[in-house]
Amino acid sequence: MCGIVGYIGNRDSLQILIEGLKRLEYRGYDSAGVALIDDNKFFIVKSVGKISELEKRIPTCSMKGKAGIAHTRWATHGAPSDINAHPHTDEKKQLAVVHNGIIENHASLRKLLEKDGHIFVSETDTEVIVHLIEKFYNGSNLPSAVGQALRMLHGTFGIIAASVSEPDLLVAARNGSPLVLGVGENEYFLASDVAPIVPYTREVIYFEDNEMVVVGRDGYKTMTLDAVPVNKESCTVDWDISSIEKSGFEHFMLKEIFEQPETVANSMRGRMILASGTSRLQGLNLNLENLRSIKRVIIAGCGTSWHAALVGEYIIEELARTPVEVEYASEFRYRNPIIDESTVLFVISQSGETADTLAALREAKEKSGLGLGIVNVVGSTIARESMGGVYIHAGPEIGVASTKAFTSQITVLALIGILLGRQRDLSSTEGKKILRGLLDIPGKIKRILATSDEIKKIADEYCNTSNFLYLGRGINFPVALEGALKMKEISYIHAEGYPASEMKHGPIALIDENMPVVVIATKDSAYEKIISNIQEVKARKGKVIAIATEGDTEISKYADHIIEVPATHHLLSPLLNVIPLQLLAYHIAVKRGCNVDQPRNLAKSVTVE
Ligand code: G6P
Repeated sequence: MCGIVGYIGNRDSLQILIEGLKRLEYRGYDSAGVALIDDNKFFIVKSVGKISELEKRIPTCSMKGKAGIAHTRWATHGAPSDINAHPHTDEKKQLAVVHNGIIENHASLRKLLEKDGHIFVSETDTEVIVHLIEKFYNGSNLPSAVGQALRMLHGTFGIIAASVSEPDLLVAARNGSPLVLGVGENEYFLASDVAPIVPYTREVIYFEDNEMVVVGRDGYKTMTLDAVPVNKESCTVDWDISSIEKSGFEHFMLKEIFEQPETVANSMRGRMILASGTSRLQGLNLNLENLRSIKRVIIAGCGTSWHAALVGEYIIEELARTPVEVEYASEFRYRNPIIDESTVLFVISQSGETADTLAALREAKEKSGLGLGIVNVVGSTIARESMGGVYIHAGPEIGVASTKAFTSQITVLALIGILLGRQRDLSSTEGKKILRGLLDIPGKIKRILATSDEIKKIADEYCNTSNFLYLGRGINFPVALEGALKMKEISYIHAEGYPASEMKHGPIALIDENMPVVVIATKDSAYEKIISNIQEVKARKGKVIAIATEGDTEISKYADHIIEVPATHHLLSPLLNVIPLQLLAYHIAVKRGCNVDQPRNLAKSVTVE
């Protein structure tokens, strides 16, 4: 977590750094800081709280500098405080460092450094980095000192270091945490992702682990931490600037919910072969023989991506009749998973940077399995380390609670299911039917979005509740989990998702007149059973909010509230059923006055284990 930004060029860097931090605030927002180099000294301001708090502390006019570094923090070592906020400096304030990641051997290094007389002021692991650099620095070769210091670290880092003795360069490096260089004209930008860079340049360079870059105003040099030169190709980012702005919506989350007709369409564009009822996913790098030789599929992810994986399990098993297991990426590698050459591991990650998901991918590759990625952020670490994969093309997702990535991940999983299925027993007729169903999804999502105001009325009624239960059957069980997660994440209301059939084995004890139960009750083979579950809730005076198929007159006899969604192929129903759940959580969170885009304690991209 944490976001880092650096600038060196001929403009005043303060606003560039502050704007950059705001675009990275999704990575952490408990404290922030900025250091500008001017007149051979640092001007440093830090503040606990969000970037807006930092801005309040910045003295107008007096803070200048055409190079600087900045940081927005998600605390790991040491509570959020002014002292623990980055940038961190040596005692003489000659060196400053911003860091994203975790230094696992910080305690032993700190002891060594303290023995040598270094004085620490913060509780952070990061502070050892700046003291280590100081140890190796003679005032004239910052890249060498940074390289020596970083080689002593165990753990993960994306860092930017600066020295007042060499005010015309910044040194940045990565291992396990993301780092991007933006290449402008006589100006360069460093950041944890491209969001702070795209307003100024589209030309970027992504770094691999153990690479370092030394940036001046008239160029940059890339190398390993041992100073071996590395040639890096730049690439062009095709993000539109409006995609990282709110465009008139009150929150990024609402904007992203409303973008789904378009983002789902983008995820399938150019990937369907309607005539033969199959899909084309060239990024997987698999020929027909490879596809047929897959005997077992594992899908791993965290959070919302894990829920998408569960939906994928239903889709792939039904279409391809190939066994699928879904794993929490965070658990996967710790239990010595069985992987052989006929196993494919798909890792799903919106950010492409989640540490546990990356570790799962590496584990599969080490065991000679096929490790493929389903990723949103182009050029992210998982995207680059995967042996092949599919970009979901949902565009930047800024709201910490994932919404549009979920529907795009499911869209891609459906295309994968069709592709694998058509190499096995899936008929072209059934393949075409699902593809046509997918093509209709964007229009159907639009119809659901048009009911947002109705959902808001339901939200008004339940915004003061303390608990929610979400029930779904079959492929809609993961949707129940996702609905509950959205509610927890952004409104801080306790919510649990359950397979409706499991209700009798525990959660039913919780049901009384104060318990709202959201039931996914769209028409499919489990419809009758779910109606029975609704009656069981009603018999105990629970309040039922049902997600029902348009035109279902039966369900109104039992449910207190009905949110209608259009009918679709049962395997695609999660793509529609999740939309009202996203809106319900959103409207309740707004009503409760919660910070929807930046919920407490969470971060968009969890780059620590
Ligand atoms: C964090 C975010 C979630 C996200 C999860 C996995 O917990 O707050 O919204 O689903 O990480 O992230 P990924 O980028 O790997 O999909």
